[in-house]
Amino acid sequence: MRPVSDQRRIKELQARISILTRDTPCKIHLMHIKLIVETIKLILNSTRLGDKGYKNALDIELSERELHFKRLPSEFDGFRLLHISDLHIDGMPELKDKMLEKIMPLEFDLCLLGGDYRFHNSGNTRNVCDRMRSFISELIKKNKPVAGILGNHDEYEIAKLLDQAGVAMLINESMKISRNGADIFVCGLDDCHYYSSQNIADSLAGIPTDSFKIVLSHSPELYAEAEKAGFDLYLAGHTHGGQICPVPGFPVLIQAKIPRSLASGIWNYKNLTGLTNRGAGSSGAPARFNCPPEIALITLRKEPENEAKD
Ligand SMILES: [Fe+2]
Repeated sequence: MRPVSDQRRIKELQARISILTRDTPCKIHLMHIKLIVETIKLILNSTRLGDKGYKNALDIELSERELHFKRLPSEFDGFRLLHISDLHIDGMPELKDKMLEKIMPLEFDLCLLGGDYRFHNSGNTRNVCDRMRSFISELIKKNKPVAGILGNHDEYEIAKLLDQAGVAMLINESMKISRNGADIFVCGLDDCHYYSSQNIADSLAGIPTDSFKIVLSHSPELYAEAEKAGFDLYLAGHTHGGQICPVPGFPVLIQAKIPRSLASGIWNYKNLTGLTNRGAGSSGAPARFNCPPEIALITLRKEPENEAKD
């Protein structure tokens, strides 16, 4: 694991200082978000909706998808990726066991963790570290590689814990996966939403240009740069699909500068296919409406050269 950039370290330090001094970086933006979140919490707590939203937030959906790629080596046809993002594992005491209940019966070849392990975006990391240590100790019993990145709610301390627990933390670096003599690559980017500490060029160092490449990024906001860089598949989270939607598929807040079509589910941008995961956990308020939490199981398929991609 590469250490995080100085820029990220400085911003993490600023976030810690802001807690002590009751000052906040990006004051206007954060106050605006905080006001909305506090209003939602007040409504939930003063009505029966709170209990319903909490129950919804623990009802994790397994989304199974097949994605087809011309550039995928035929040796990887049928390769299964388990993508878990936005765990926010210390937000609800029951969440860790609910996630494991869903995951442990599954068959997969590689597990990718998309960041945002902590519920709050600053403060103590003891609870999140304890729960992630316990979660990973169960997950690695599947005997499959696990790789991860950091999100905008995380700190370097969490990356060190995950690295020690057996997760390959990809801080602007890549991991080669080999099968029957063929290789594909997973490039992990550091957070682009708050820390702006991503480095696509570093993550691609040493990778042959024409190889099949997956980019694991906390937020989908790098879709245009990722397409330009030649990635085939972009796995993201961060938006929570809106988390609280008046009607399914119509989020109020997505907290990302992206077209709304990239806020959840499968999307395409030029030659790039993407998945924005709704996240396994919840943040702000431990509640969801019309937007269930999600764990994604993706099967990669080799598309024959003579078939058109839809
Ligand atoms: Fe998140």
